[in-house]
Amino acid sequence: MSEPSGQELYERIPTKVFEDASLAVCEVAKEIAEAIRARQAEGKSFVLGLATGSTPVPLYRELVRMHREEGLSFANVTSFNLDEYFGIESRHPESYHRFMREQLFDHIDMPEAQINIPQGAVAREEVFEACQAYEEKIEACGGIDVQILGIGRTGHIGFNEPGSGPHSRTRLVTLDRLTRLDAARDFQGEHNVPRYAVTMGVGTIMDARKVYLLAWGRSKAEVIKAAVEDAPVESLPASFLQAHSNAYFILDTASASELTRNKYPWLVGFPEWTPELARESVTHLSLKLGKPLLKLVDKDYQENGLSELVTEQGPAYGLNIRVFNEVQHTITGWPGGKPDADDTYRPERALPARKRVLVLSPEPQDDVLAMAATLSRLVAHGHEVTVAYLTSGSLGVPDEEANWAADLMLEAGDSAIASDVLRELEEKGAFSEDSPRLRTFKSYLRRNEARASLEMCGLSKSCIRFLDLPFYEKGRYRRFEVGEEDVAAMSRLIDEIKPHQIFVTGEAADPSSVQAKSFSVFENAIRSFSSEPWYKDCYVWLYRSDGREWDIHQVEMAVPCSPDEVKAKAQAIYQHRSQRSQLPSMNADQSEAWEQAVERNRGTAVLYDKLGLAEYEAIECFVRWSTVKGASK
Ligand code: GLP
Repeated sequence: MSEPSGQELYERIPTKVFEDASLAVCEVAKEIAEAIRARQAEGKSFVLGLATGSTPVPLYRELVRMHREEGLSFANVTSFNLDEYFGIESRHPESYHRFMREQLFDHIDMPEAQINIPQGAVAREEVFEACQAYEEKIEACGGIDVQILGIGRTGHIGFNEPGSGPHSRTRLVTLDRLTRLDAARDFQGEHNVPRYAVTMGVGTIMDARKVYLLAWGRSKAEVIKAAVEDAPVESLPASFLQAHSNAYFILDTASASELTRNKYPWLVGFPEWTPELARESVTHLSLKLGKPLLKLVDKDYQENGLSELVTEQGPAYGLNIRVFNEVQHTITGWPGGKPDADDTYRPERALPARKRVLVLSPEPQDDVLAMAATLSRLVAHGHEVTVAYLTSGSLGVPDEEANWAADLMLEAGDSAIASDVLRELEEKGAFSEDSPRLRTFKSYLRRNEARASLEMCGLSKSCIRFLDLPFYEKGRYRRFEVGEEDVAAMSRLIDEIKPHQIFVTGEAADPSSVQAKSFSVFENAIRSFSSEPWYKDCYVWLYRSDGREWDIHQVEMAVPCSPDEVKAKAQAIYQHRSQRSQLPSMNADQSEAWEQAVERNRGTAVLYDKLGLAEYEAIECFVRWSTVKGASK
C-alpha cells in the first residue's frame, strides 16, 4: 500500500481513501492473501484478528471469493475475533459467533479448532478467567499478525467504548447508549440489545503487528476525522491507533469527507480554484469569521489561507457578490419550478407547469424527515406527486408496537390474526427472528403510519406506493443483498410514471444500509432509461434523511419553510409512532426524530442568515444528482 502523500499534513495516521468500499476491500484482501500465502510457503501459520459489524462484510465476501476462485486456503490461519455480546448464546441470530459463521467461516477452509471468538454465554463469575485465557491463547499463537477493525460512532474499536484506556486488555464492558441505539434495529428494539459485551482491550489491539481500520459511509465521517486528526484521547479509543507504528485507516470517500484534505483542500495544498471550490471556501470563510458574505474584505481572504483565490478571482467585493448570487439563486419557494417566471437562475424549470414527481423513500419516514414541507408545496402547486416506499420498514418495528396493535384488534373483536400475532410475540421471546406473518403485520403498521403522515402533507392514499422490495423482505439489517428483481420492480415504477422530477436519497450512506441499497437499486434501474426522451428532461434531486445535512456550499435547491410549515412537518413525522425513540441516527441525548429533523432545517436557515441572506424559520435542501461526483447524468 502506498504511503500517504505530503499534503496530508493534518493526518496523524496513514490514511488511504478509495472511491468506494469494494475497491478498498480488494486491496486489503489482496494484502491479507499475500501474507497468508507467504506464511504457507514457509510452512507457518498466520494469525488474523477479525471484526464484526457491517463494515468488514465486503472484505469477507472478497476473501470468500478468493478462496473459491483463486484457491486461497485458510488452512494455516488462526483467527481471533474482537468481541461478543455478553449474555447471549452463540446460536442467537445476532451473536457474533453466528455472524462470523454466516459471513466467513462457513465458506472457507479454516479448521474449526483454529477459530477463536470471546464467549458471550459464560457465567458472570467466570468472565474474568475466560478473558485472561483469551489473552493467553493469543500470545501462545504468537500474537496477531493482522487485525481488522471497524469503528463505532462513539469511536469505539471492538467494544472499547469511550473511557477505555490505551492499555486495557480483554474484559467485560458496558455498552454505550449510542452503540446500543445503533444495534437496536438488529435486535428489534433497543431494550433487546445486550447491555454488556466481552471485548479485546485497546492494548490487545495495539499488540497486533499490523492493523487496518475500515470505515464506509457518511455516518462515520466525523468520528474518522477526530480519530485521524485530533490528539489521542480516552473519549475516542480509535485515536490510540495513532501510536501504532503499522496501523492504516482504509476509507471510502464518504467516510473521509470530513478530513481536512477533502473539506478544506486549500489548507493542505494548492487546489484548482473551480467555481464550486471558490463557493465552498468563501462560504466557509464567511461563517468562520462571522461576517456576512458581502462584508468580506481582501484582508480576510489573505489572513485565512485564501490569498491565492482572491488574487486569482478577486478583488473580494466581486468574488463576494458572485458567491452571494449563487447562494441566493438556490432559494426557491417553488420546488417544482415557478410557472410563468423566468427560470434562468432558478433551481427548477418553469415548464411543464404541472410536473410528474416521484419521491423515493427507502423506508417509511425518510421522505418526511427530509422533505415534508417540500412535499406539501409540490402538492399545493398542483404537481402530480407519487411517493413510493421502497421497503416495508417492518424490521424497524419493535415488538411492543405489534403487541399494542394486536391488543387493539383483539379488543375490537378481530381475533383471528390478532391472537396469532400475540401468541407469536409471547413465544418468540426477545431473541428470535420474526415469522413472515409477523413481519407482514409489522409492515401494515408502517403503511398506516406512512399514510397518516402523508395525509398531513396533503397527499391522498392513491398517490402512495408500497414496493416492498425483495432485498429487504428476504434480508436482515447489515446483510441485505440487492438482486435483479429489486431493479425490475423499480424500473417498472419509473417507466410507468416517467417523472419530470425524482427525489431520492442514500448515495453516500453506509453501503450496508437500507438507504444505500435502495439507492443502488435506483441507480441500476435508471441506467436503462438513459436514452429515453423523458429522462433527458428529468431532474434527479438528492435529499438527506439520515441526520446529516448537505454542506451549505453544496446546496442547489433551498426550500424555505414558514413557522406553520415547520409545525406541520413535525406533525407529519410524529405520525410514525413505531419509530419514536428509536431511530438509529438518534443522538444519545434522546431527542426525537421530529425534533432532530426540524432542528436540522432550522440550522440551515441560520446558516443562510449568517451568510447575509434572508432570515427564514427553516430550510429543506437538495442537491442535483448530475452535479454529484460519479453520477451518470
Ligand atoms: C460493533 C462492533 C465493532 C464495529 C462496530 C461498527 O459495535 N463491536 O467492532 O466496528 O459495531 O459497526 P458497523 O461496522 O456495522 O458500522
